[in-house]
Amino acid sequence: MVRSKIISTGSYLPEKILTNSDLEKMVDTTDDWITERTGIKERRIASNDQAASDLAYEASKLALDRASLKGEDIELIITATVTGDMPFPSTACILQHKIGAKNAAAFDINAACSGFLYGLYIADSFIKSGMHKRILVIGTEVLSKITDWEDRTTCVLFGDGAGAVILEPTEEERGIISININSDGSLWELLHIPGGGSRNPVSRDTVDRRLHYIKMKGNETFKFAVRTLEDIVVKILEDNKLNPAQLSLLIPHQANLRIIQATAERIGLPMNRVLVNLYKYGNTSAASIPIALDEAFMTGKIKDGDYILLEAFGGGLTWASALIRW
Ligand code: ACO
Repeated sequence: MVRSKIISTGSYLPEKILTNSDLEKMVDTTDDWITERTGIKERRIASNDQAASDLAYEASKLALDRASLKGEDIELIITATVTGDMPFPSTACILQHKIGAKNAAAFDINAACSGFLYGLYIADSFIKSGMHKRILVIGTEVLSKITDWEDRTTCVLFGDGAGAVILEPTEEERGIISININSDGSLWELLHIPGGGSRNPVSRDTVDRRLHYIKMKGNETFKFAVRTLEDIVVKILEDNKLNPAQLSLLIPHQANLRIIQATAERIGLPMNRVLVNLYKYGNTSAASIPIALDEAFMTGKIKDGDYILLEAFGGGLTWASALIRW
């Protein structure tokens, strides 16, 4: 049986750090409130001239170099982002040019914070079907440019970054063992950007009303996330007849420490087997899981043969989970 396996990872975080005490000077908030409610202490912010493809380039280059591959070795590029360089062309096409992947097809997907796992799902399907043999999947976000820096209920949460993985087929008992994606469009209003699309095209009015920034019903999103993530981690383990004790690492979407703790608690996983890096990067949406995966791999937290579980939820609403044997 052919499975897809991750053969390389890479990530990139912009240099500029915005701390909670910096935010105290911008909006009516405190380091204590942000730390207690979210677990976030600081986040990275892209420079004015950095767009999603620039962050994606750095992460992808690292993943290619670590696998001793060149851009032209890649057959397909899937970029997950809600902060693409521009409405079109796709950020994946711009990235294709930057890395010299002249033999690749390239497209973007939008599943908000679940975007990377949606990308992994598509790549896994292409590899299993034999359609493609080497695929680059990236999550890249410059959320700082769609964040309302006057809205304390959202601006404390988000950050910028990118993560990339390269997938290839394998006939070994490893790689992506199981992967699921889900959505419920009836809840789209919980998390959205009202302006700038064909519903509310850009106008002076949409700009004046700050419609080009993220709007979120935080508390409802929070409750939905806890309930859903608890269910999907239990289900994917049961479906694959895996005991939580066999799991080496849980790599959750980095949105809120309380959501992560609730999920881990539900399957009885101690926090030392959960990758948490949101305290330094905040929520980087589609980039959060590939950044965390890269960190886990590069710091030796994942070894050959380990079972790892990835899970995410986000705007759409969307949610997803993946069980991987490294
Ligand atoms: N500083 C100080 N006080 C604040 C802040 C802030 N930054 N933000 C909100 N408050 C206040 C509120 O106004 C409210 O005050 P009130 O009681 O006087 O009305 C109080 O704090 C409590 O607000 P809640 O929204 O109920 O706080 P909650 O405990 O739900 O935490 C949070 C808010 C952190 C946003 C939480 O709801 C959350 O994490 N939600 C999920 C967000 C998320 O994960 N989004 C997901 C994906 S993002 C994507 O897909 C792009």
